[in-house]
Parts: sequence; C-alpha cells; structure tokens
Amino acid sequence: MSHDGRPRARAPRAGDPRASAPANGRFTITAHTSADAEHRSAVEEMVRGLTAEPKMLSPRFLYHNEGSRLFDEITRLDEYYPTRVERALLERFAAEIVEEVRPLEIVELGPGSGAKSGTLIGPGLDAGTLARYIPFDISESAVRESASSLLQAHPDLGEIAGVVGDFGRHLSAVPSTQGRRLIAFLGSTIGNLHPQEQRRLLTELRRLMGRDDDAVLIGVDLVKDRRVLEEAYNDRRGVTALFNLNSLEAANDLLGLDLDADLFRHRAFFNAAHSRIEMHLEARADVSFALPPDGETVRLRAGETIWTESSYKFTREGFADTLRDAGFSRARWYTDPDEMFALVLARPAPSRGV
Ligand code: AVJ
Repeated sequence: MSHDGRPRARAPRAGDPRASAPANGRFTITAHTSADAEHRSAVEEMVRGLTAEPKMLSPRFLYHNEGSRLFDEITRLDEYYPTRVERALLERFAAEIVEEVRPLEIVELGPGSGAKSGTLIGPGLDAGTLARYIPFDISESAVRESASSLLQAHPDLGEIAGVVGDFGRHLSAVPSTQGRRLIAFLGSTIGNLHPQEQRRLLTELRRLMGRDDDAVLIGVDLVKDRRVLEEAYNDRRGVTALFNLNSLEAANDLLGLDLDADLFRHRAFFNAAHSRIEMHLEARADVSFALPPDGETVRLRAGETIWTESSYKFTREGFADTLRDAGFSRARWYTDPDEMFALVLARPAPSRGV
C-alpha cells in the first residue's frame, strides 16, 4: 500500500518488468513499477487531489516514511479493533478455510512485510496442497524481505513468485493460474476504495481466477455502534491524529512544501449515509500555499478540510450485493461473536453458459 520512499537506485524502470536474479531457486520477483514511477504518479495524484473540490489526498500518503510505523502502532491500540479481530479470525478459521478450498496457490494482495504476511501459508501446507505463494505488493523491499523469511520458515513451500505493483494498475501482472487458486485481500484494505472501485477491483480479481473452484478471501470491517467506530479513529493517545497529519509530511516531501502540522487538526467521523469513516485534516485558520510546477495557489478557509481517507464499513447484505455485481456467489462468512469484522470467502459465480 505504502509509497515508502526507499532507495531508488536498484529498482527496475517502470514498464520494464523483468524477473531479477532469484534470491534462491525458489524465489522470483517481477517489478511492474518502481519507486521512481511511484514517485512521479504520487506527485501527479497529489496535485490533482489538492486542486480538486473537495480537496483530498490519497490514503496511500498516510504511509509515507514514519506513517508505516504509525500504522503499526495503531494496530496495537486498545481502541483499534480491526487488526486484532481479523488476526483472531485467521487463527481460528485459516485451517478450515484452506481445507475448504485446498489451494495449490495463494495470491495475496498487499501483504507488506508485516506479521500478517503469509498467515495462510502454514495452514495451506498443512492441508497438503499448497505449492506456490504469490505476494503482490507496492513495495519491492517488503516482497523481498517477507519472501526470504517465509522460505526459511517453510522449507516445504515450493515457490514464491513475488510481483511488485499497484493493485489499482498492475493486477494483470499476476502470473496465470497453475491450479486451484485462493486470492487473499485482507486487512479491510478494500474499505479504502469507494463502492464503484470496490466493484472494479473485485471484477479484476474474478478475472485472475481460472476455475469455478478458485476462491477469494476478503477481510472487511463491519458496521457497528457509531461510538466504537469513531473511537477506533480518535484514539486517546492521538496516534491516529499523527498518522493523519503525516499526509502533510508526504505533501511537504513530494511537493517541496513547508506546511506546518499546527495549521491543521485531525478529524475522523462516521458518515452513516455512506457507511464510512472519513478522515480529514481541518484548517485551523485560513491557509494557502503554492503548488509546483507553475505555482498554482491552493486556498483553504478556516474550517475547510483536506479529505485524507475513507474507510468503508460493510453490512452482510451490502457486501453480498457488491460480490454478486462483481461475478461472485456462494459467499461464506467467518465472523466473531460480536460481528466486529468478517472474513468473506467467495467463489466465482458459475458462468451462465452462453
Ligand atoms: C489499513 C485501511 C484498514 O481503514 O482502518 C487506520 C487504515 N486509518 N486508522 C483503516 C487506518 C486510520 C485502516 N486500513
């Protein structure tokens, strides 16, 4: 997910996908984007967002530099339940899920290098079917680091075929199936997409699946009491506020600005009409700054906001509709007793033989 500003020197050029030297016989990596290409597209996206109405910054910028560490810290906060509940669901149901699907390969979108990366591999190997793991992530270093530790941890995993790309643009780079495939999209990352984008992404995932017995496993955060939702994004220690304000750091770094965090305040609230948490940076006073390359001026009135994230919260019915629209059926729901979070296992709808 993150644009992580790691060293650019060794990254292949975008549009020049190439398999680099395997780390060992079992690991290959194909890069479909590079830190340079991501940097250019990030600058363009930022300028577009800040000159749009309402003003916005893509949630990817939350993870800039310190942001990844801040997000890690968020996942350990008392108020922030999603990561904890999803992890418990995976611990409880992963074996059952892979036993049900019996995948030969697992494609994981956005695993990063963190703890949740590869959580399905152990159970997949135990089920006796898994031969190939395909992590798809924006960060080349994350793919490399997790691959080497996963190969060490699982000597009986046949192959890791890493793909470096942006899941909004490079999904077609996922190698074609060699056998029954499970696609995992965890962490409620899908909640960062607007409904139309959710459908589009799921439709593309449907295309990455060859067979009726392939499956997709999606982690979704569920609609619940407004107080619980809003506290998860307004923690007492103010870590989420720092995470939100980190978007300004990203703007300063990428656009060469010098915006002071004191000019803005963190706002996060549940927008029930759209079933989403919205995070904004609200100007404490009138603010104006000039954008590169030609110095176009951005003006905010006191109280006006820059919209930095949407985090959609799902109902069973709503998400079932989204899945159906994207060509999936027969969804199975794995959830906790309080229905805080769900893992949804969906199968391609049988093709309507034309
Ligand atoms: C990583 C997108 C699931 O939406 O809850 C955490 C990011 N934003 N606190 C979420 C986030 C504010 C998180 N996701």
